[in-house]
Amino acid sequence: MEIVLVRGDITEQQVDAVVNAANSSLLGGGGVDGAIHRKGGPDILAACRDLRASHYGKGLPTGRAVATTAGRLPARWVIHTVGPVHSTTEDRSELLASCHRESLRVADELGARSVAFPAISTGVYRWPVEDAARIAVETVRAAETSVEEVRFVLFDERAYEAFAAQAG
Ligand code: APR
Repeated sequence: MEIVLVRGDITEQQVDAVVNAANSSLLGGGGVDGAIHRKGGPDILAACRDLRASHYGKGLPTGRAVATTAGRLPARWVIHTVGPVHSTTEDRSELLASCHRESLRVADELGARSVAFPAISTGVYRWPVEDAARIAVETVRAAETSVEEVRFVLFDERAYEAFAAQAG
């Protein structure tokens, strides 16, 4: 599998699946979540509502991932995952690793060959971007997956530099 770094907007990526940094409600928010719903259109939210009504009555747990249509985005699917909120008293690294592992597992179930990830948990959820980059790249590198391209799409220079330092 190839790891690619891109400086840009995840909603514009021509990949099979785009990973959304969602919250457990699956009903939208700001940041990546807001951009994906805004650009992708109402079909994404409708599919998320169906998931809430069918399988995730209490919401999607942190570290888990689930797929919906990508609506009007160039991608075919959105893989929604819920990152951990950074904590200084509890090590939640395994949950952030799980977001990446579970997203790739869902991508494999879909038959997706290219997957774009944002820097999960590094915005509203306040995870230090350098540490998030380490966890993200290490987890993706170690994953058993049929995905051929993992693209980290970084929205600002600091995040890009942090991931570049990890991806070599
Ligand atoms: N494309 C790529 N990256 C983006 C985009 C975009 N269009 N918009 C924001 N980002 C970057 C942010 O700069 C940050 O580095 O994505 C990273 C993750 O930030 P958030 O979107 O805030 O996600 P997160 O920290 O995981 O917090 C999730 O925020 O938006 C709400 O509903 C969401 O409650 C959930 C929480």
